[in-house]
Amino acid sequence: MKVLCSDPLAQYDKYRLEIDAAIRDVLFSGNYILSDQVQSLEQEYSAFLNCNHVIGVANGTDAIELVLRALDIGHGDEVITVSHTAVATVSAIQSAGAKPILVDIKSESFTINTDLINEKITKRTKAVIPVHIYGRSANLNKIKQICNDNKLYLIEDCAQAHGLKTKSGAYVGTVGIAGCFSCYPTKNLGGIGDAGLISTNSAVLADKLRAIRQYGWKDRANSSAFGRNSRIDEIQAAILRVKLKYLEANNILRRDLAKTYKSNLQNLDLILPNTDNDDHVYHLYVVRSNKRDKLKKYLFDKNILAGIHYPIPIHKQSIFIDNISTSNDMSTTELLANEILSLPIYPELSLQKLNYVTDSIREFFTKSVN
Ligand SMILES: Cc1ncc(COP(=O)(O)O)c(C=O)c1O
Repeated sequence: MKVLCSDPLAQYDKYRLEIDAAIRDVLFSGNYILSDQVQSLEQEYSAFLNCNHVIGVANGTDAIELVLRALDIGHGDEVITVSHTAVATVSAIQSAGAKPILVDIKSESFTINTDLINEKITKRTKAVIPVHIYGRSANLNKIKQICNDNKLYLIEDCAQAHGLKTKSGAYVGTVGIAGCFSCYPTKNLGGIGDAGLISTNSAVLADKLRAIRQYGWKDRANSSAFGRNSRIDEIQAAILRVKLKYLEANNILRRDLAKTYKSNLQNLDLILPNTDNDDHVYHLYVVRSNKRDKLKKYLFDKNILAGIHYPIPIHKQSIFIDNISTSNDMSTTELLANEILSLPIYPELSLQKLNYVTDSIREFFTKSVN
């Protein structure tokens, strides 16, 4: 039996009739750029999130960069985020021209250690970008307070957290000035190709973003601001509209799988994510082991593809070393990079496959293979 870490083909197969019909409708409409599908997706996602505006863009990296540019954050400015994230979070800050300031994380949640934010705030700091990593919310109450106290923008990286609610019941992406979502195929709301979505309650920011994503156009062919091409395309929008209908149900399936992982993996030398916390949409199911590499290889030999998100902290990657600043102590980020392992999780994962994964893990720890 082969078990992939994520399986976007299985999701396509589940909704194939609807997706094929949606694509065909776009093909026959003759309108392929910023037309009915994009408009409807933007309306439907803003209704889902209960926020005023959603703006579709080309991908999740652009979503972050464009928000920074729209807020006039760039050269000479600093933006605080984490080192334990997809490289995209940090490269988007650099692309906007600002300096990334990387803070250590908390080991229980893998999210930004809010106790370390204040000491990195300077006169140049303009924003904080918490990442709701793996589908779990950063401590938004605390971060919002810090941002309010210091007049900083709170921009949420929601690439891995579609449909995640905060403790107050609001969806992530609606607490800060903007939420930045990736719709990369494996995401909780994933396209069949690249796409990104930005949520905001600010009409001014929404207008600016709509201009920036299309050459800075105010009216057609009249650019009044910086801009470039970062349009979401009609076909991705049509596919995402189909998948949005099932987002909540699919997040429930992810939570159910996480519960089964938890019960199957009891009493092993593994640290499991905390499934008692409902505020989790399990984009990834990440466990910790100090035998991580051997375990990954053992699973690989059994045709189980576990992943590592992310093996090299951003502050250790050569392109960033000279252009960032970090907390004095990055030990949690560095420790976890050696211990984390992402087990297969996606709504279409069968119980048979999940049990095969957990039986194999139990075998690894009980046999004398390690
Ligand atoms: C945390 C995080 N931020 C940003 C991104 C960037 O999204 P995209 O790949 O759509 O550009 C990703 C996607 O991998 C991500 O996981």
